[in-house]
Amino acid sequence: MNPAQNTTDVAVVGLGRVGLPLALSFADRGLRVLGVDNDPARLAAVRDGHMPFAETGAQELLARVHASDMLELSDRVADAARAGHIVITLGTPSFSHIEIDMRHIRSALDDLLGVGGARHSLILRSTIAPGTTDFVAGYLAKHRSFAVGEDLFVAHAPERIAAGRFLEEIDTLPCIIGGVGEESGEVAGRLFETFNAPIVQTTPVQAELAKIWTNILRYTQFALPNLLMMDCEKHGANVFEVIDLINRDYPRGGIAAPGLTAGTCLRKDFAFSEERSNAPGMLLAVSRVNESVPLFLIEGMKRRLGSLADRKVAVLGLAFKADTDDERDSLSHKLVRLLERELADVAVHDGHVPTPTGTFEDAVTDADAVIVATNHSEFREIAALRTIAERASADCLVVDPWNCWGAAQLFAYVSEIVALAQAS
Ligand SMILES: NC(=O)c1ccc[n+]([C@@H]2O[C@H](COP(=O)([O-])OP(=O)(O)OC[C@H]3O[C@@H](n4cnc5c(N)ncnc54)[C@H](O)[C@@H]3O)[C@@H](O)[C@H]2O)c1
Repeated sequence: MNPAQNTTDVAVVGLGRVGLPLALSFADRGLRVLGVDNDPARLAAVRDGHMPFAETGAQELLARVHASDMLELSDRVADAARAGHIVITLGTPSFSHIEIDMRHIRSALDDLLGVGGARHSLILRSTIAPGTTDFVAGYLAKHRSFAVGEDLFVAHAPERIAAGRFLEEIDTLPCIIGGVGEESGEVAGRLFETFNAPIVQTTPVQAELAKIWTNILRYTQFALPNLLMMDCEKHGANVFEVIDLINRDYPRGGIAAPGLTAGTCLRKDFAFSEERSNAPGMLLAVSRVNESVPLFLIEGMKRRLGSLADRKVAVLGLAFKADTDDERDSLSHKLVRLLERELADVAVHDGHVPTPTGTFEDAVTDADAVIVATNHSEFREIAALRTIAERASADCLVVDPWNCWGAAQLFAYVSEIVALAQAS
């Protein structure tokens, strides 16, 4: 099919946290968009005008797009061939074999093989392992004998926007594009010129590396304070004071704060580099540090409280980071599982996530320990600390790797935290 005859400008395949805001943003800028997803519940929510997850400003955007009639929906990937540009925003998990799981992408390619035609542009927005864009181009060339870069365009345009900041960052973050062959980068660039962000053209593999190493950098930057936190506990030192000593008035760099570091991207993207790494193990060590934070916190609690069996432990926050409803690959779930294996009575509260949890008050009432697992804004309020002081047991241990109330104590009894928070 010749895209020039099409009535659809762009198809976005996979209406998840990346694809849906992108599809809506294209439509809002006047492009005729086809959104494709195989999840009937997701399609029904969008059709009914309900954002299926939280993204700042997206509910209003969805209402505008509904009114403009610029977004069509389909559950068939093959329908994407009606559009000149096909943007793939499908999930790319990692296997437990330290290897990208490309099954969603492979399945979409197979659906498109029979229907996609010359002059289409296929843009991979998903996060992918180095070499994947060339693989996709080779796969299409192998099965349909296209000259990629001339008859058919294939490019990688990685998504680097942070959850909750989509509508702001789509117009500001440099848009990296790595096209295969002569023209692919230019064609993909013309689509993303819809937004105001500068376009940076590069090779496919450099685009892939830039994306995954953006996340590797963050994952590693958070592993260092997490490792320091564990070292400080060993030496009887206060991690917050050591971090202050490192950073105070020091002009070169600075160390981040500790916390539970995970989420669907950071937890797996490093594996895409590690699958062919020449330095096997370095990033696995980074992962191990971050992954061991829940166990470290539990061991610290046991050193102070003794056995956790039959003790009530409140876990505040299931989301992988503050003020999001995304709990995929959050370490809070691992923390809860490990606490259950200690035979603790675990009470969980998170008002953001889809998993049903009890109220804040119920979670902390009579708790022997409270762990702030996610630093949601409402937990950082002094009122939340007061509620813990009023309702939890008098000698409740508070575990606060985020330093929510400025008390600068990783493990401390609630009365100490209250006194220090008032003084700070
Ligand atoms: N979530 C983020 O903040 C973020 C940020 C940057 C990059 N990424 C990357 O972007 C990609 C997408 O991530 P996401 O978080 O949006 O994923 P997601 O799981 O939220 O979305 C994927 C969507 O694709 C749909 N889907 C799955 N298989 C399908 C098929 N065969 N046909 C049609 N639809 C299908 C699912 O129903 C889902 O709605 C991943 O590669 C991820 O690593 C994510």
